[in-house]
Amino acid sequence: MGSHAIDFVLVPGVAFDTRGARLGYGGGFYDKLLADGLSPGTWLVAGAFETQMVEKVPLDEHDVPMDVVVTENEHYPLGPLPRWAIY
Ligand SMILES: Nc1ncnc2c1ncn2[C@@H]1O[C@H](COP(=O)(O)OP(=O)(O)OP(=O)(O)O)[C@@H](O)[C@H]1O
Ligand SMILES: [Mg+2]
Repeated sequence: MGSHAIDFVLVPGVAFDTRGARLGYGGGFYDKLLADGLSPGTWLVAGAFETQMVEKVPLDEHDVPMDVVVTENEHYPLGPLPRWAIY
């Protein structure tokens, strides 16, 4: 656990890519919320099914990417998570 107030935010979405780009429901509500003063230690975690993973979600400047997308099979980006993200 770090010293930041919020350890992680579980963020919903319609589709994601392996970079962590996220397509929401078109309101910009999560993008606005997540742009507003979260500490850098707060991880943005999306839970999704593999069927929601697409080749590429276009990222605009206001789109806040996820640190990790967790599915029933994998986490993205692939590879080891930083140690501090796990403990
Ligand atoms: N940080 C922001 N400040 C101002 N306007 C924003 C911001 N983020 C998004 N918007 C506005 O919201 C609109 C919708 O954003 P976008 O298409 O990315 O929605 P979304 O990511 O699908 O929705 P959500 O974030 O609610 O899941 C954008 O066209 C933009 O005008
Ligand atoms: Mg968006």
